[in-house]
Amino acid sequence: MGPAAPAEAAGTDPDTGAPIRIRTVRSGVSLLTLGIETSCDDTALAILEDNSRVVGDVISSQIADHSPFGGVVPELASRKHQETLLPLLRTLLAETGVSPGDIGLIAVTAGPGLMGSLLVGVMSAKALAQGWGTPIIAVNHLEGHLYANILSHPELRHPFLCLIVSGGHTEVVLARDHGEYSLLGATRDDAAGEAYDKASKMLGLGYPGGPAIERAAAGGNPDAFAFPVAMKDSGEVEFSFSGVKTSLRTALLKMNGEIPLPDVCASFQRAVTESLLIKFEIAVERTKVDRVTLSGGVAANAELRRALTELGRRKGFEVFLPPRKYCTDNAIMIAAAGYASYSRGSRSDLSLTPDPSWKIWT
Ligand code: KG4
Ligand code: ZN
Repeated sequence: MGPAAPAEAAGTDPDTGAPIRIRTVRSGVSLLTLGIETSCDDTALAILEDNSRVVGDVISSQIADHSPFGGVVPELASRKHQETLLPLLRTLLAETGVSPGDIGLIAVTAGPGLMGSLLVGVMSAKALAQGWGTPIIAVNHLEGHLYANILSHPELRHPFLCLIVSGGHTEVVLARDHGEYSLLGATRDDAAGEAYDKASKMLGLGYPGGPAIERAAAGGNPDAFAFPVAMKDSGEVEFSFSGVKTSLRTALLKMNGEIPLPDVCASFQRAVTESLLIKFEIAVERTKVDRVTLSGGVAANAELRRALTELGRRKGFEVFLPPRKYCTDNAIMIAAAGYASYSRGSRSDLSLTPDPSWKIWT
């Protein structure tokens, strides 16, 4: 694509609703990246100008489709992505006033995630890239979660630590630089979000469980029940959430249907939060990295955000929290990670295929 005169298109600022003007990529001044995220149960698209300006973003949640099953049904998820993606793209382009020719890069999540879901995003991205003649870049979903922090805190410098906590992941990652990551520890069994989802199912609170338990915990006593904090004294950065789940099941059986819901939820939330932070603190001490971030759906949890902020204050490390809307899956973070990787010289092409277990760390 050769340089051409700057063009402008009217759009709407997603935060303020005010009209915005968009310079197109061909001006050579800015690059518009279309982010596509379909790794799990959210179909999300976003347009990002350069590394930070959100031109528009749209998300179609499949919660209503999966909640009767108490969790994500992979086959249903991919079918829904297929139905939703192109109509959602039309909406995004219409709402922002961006035309396909303005888009200079397509960034698509290529893993980790559900194979069927990833395939819909990657195949659609490849078709668009070919049809529009636009470069394409594969994005790792977890790197996307890391960029949710970079995007929302331009002052954040490497190295930093990130606790990634979602429905499929519980990992402590050291981001040494852009594109350079080390895994410091992970869960041995369930992910933290999965623990919330399973607990919520047991309590009849529905899916997704994290927000439901957080709401039900309001006003509850977090000390009412002593749910276990796994491997508390192991001294290692490793997590386990199967014990707290079993312990909840046992406690519920003893209650014979008389469940003090706020107390149970507050205590469960306390146990999950403590399990996360005890281990995260070890990672901070071991690496001596004093900038820490959170990401993934569970990072939206107010108790975790409060407890990490408090820990940082006590231990003297800086805590960067992404806004809640950037914690759960979205395409803005995918566009940001894709733009960063493309700017560093990474390239993908039409031979791209998804990798459901793609790892970014060494
Ligand atoms: O990052 P995400 O949107 O999707 C995955 O990549 O998994 O995370 C979804 C997970 C679900 O398990 C959900 O229960 C959990 O994040 N979650 C929360 C909260 N909001 C979402 N967990 C605790 N508190 C919340 N407020
Ligand atoms: Zn995620």
